[in-house]
Amino acid sequence: MTLLPRPWALLAELTHACPLRCPYCSNPLELTRRSRELSTAEWQKVLRQAADLGVVNTHLSGGEPLLRADLEEIVAEAESSGIHTQLVTSGQGLDAARLDRLLAAGLRSVQLSVQHADPARSDRIAGRRSFPDKERAAALVREAGLPLGVNVVLHRDNLDAVDALVELALSWGADRIELASTQFYGWALRNRAALMPSREQLSRASEAVSRWRERLAGRTELVWVVPDYMDGVAKPCMGGWGAVSLTVTPDGTVLPCHAAATLPDLDPPNVRDWPLAWIWEHSEAFNRYRGDGWMREPCRSCPRRDEDFGGCRCQAFALTGDAARTDPACRLSPDHGLVRAAVAEDAAGAGYVYRGPGRDDQGPAAVRRPG
Ligand code: SF4
Ligand code: FES
Repeated sequence: MTLLPRPWALLAELTHACPLRCPYCSNPLELTRRSRELSTAEWQKVLRQAADLGVVNTHLSGGEPLLRADLEEIVAEAESSGIHTQLVTSGQGLDAARLDRLLAAGLRSVQLSVQHADPARSDRIAGRRSFPDKERAAALVREAGLPLGVNVVLHRDNLDAVDALVELALSWGADRIELASTQFYGWALRNRAALMPSREQLSRASEAVSRWRERLAGRTELVWVVPDYMDGVAKPCMGGWGAVSLTVTPDGTVLPCHAAATLPDLDPPNVRDWPLAWIWEHSEAFNRYRGDGWMREPCRSCPRRDEDFGGCRCQAFALTGDAARTDPACRLSPDHGLVRAAVAEDAAGAGYVYRGPGRDDQGPAAVRRPG
């Protein structure tokens, strides 16, 4: 009998509300309205249940988690339950007083996003002026002595700026730099043509990352997430379905990954109806693609199936309409031509479709701007 794995990480999407309007956002097209968000007490219950289940780390994310006025109470509950908290933020709305309160509550680290090393280009990608706030937020985090991670989502408009982005993150005092290629889910899939880099860009960026890795070895961690569309290798998405982590969305829906709400027949459970332990162990949503019993050929007999778990279920669904097919990013997939065609598409000059302006009750509104 195989023992069920225990989760160690929780992605807590506290709110979908966000002041930024990034075209690469991987949140769903339909955002959860603020009136449907979990209450403070409900989040605190989720954290206690997560700790009982074995979770030791949580990313407090969104949207922009700083928009939750009760963030300090949520952090404090995690800390007292034995869960380390990392705030994943755009830096908007972080001032010294707020950071002091979060520190007092037990916040352990901050991951700050930036869109480009050039302030004007960063603001253009984010869809509003935001770079100065990010710079200020980085300084506050370093002054407070908290570990700082700087995260950049890469695409055709910033992939040529890898050197400048690493220099910027170092000047901000980052302990960890994450350069992560856009994952084409949710809103990002809508902007795929405008965001898709060229192979030449990718190869230049890859050389730059290798140089920086040599220079920074032993000092600063540099994480480089290559685009799976480009290399013909499926990514081991989430470390396997229902294997190491779970995601709780703003309204309490529990998912094996943050994009799983896009699978139309998954019927994911909600913490308002079920304890987290039951959801992890017994829900159909968490068991459907767990392990390898669900796999078809070519994954079923592939020697890599224990390494990449057949790739990403959400990407398989987004591109083929069937989440149980081999991820088309894999060169062995019969659907790999879909990915090759997307990469070959010449989208120079395609404009972004921005998310609607940040407001309390966000809908799926979009605004198109020239690229
Ligand atoms: Fe991975 Fe399946 Fe491709 Fe094999 S066929 S490499 S298991 S995605
Ligand atoms: Fe859902 Fe990859 S994002 S399985």
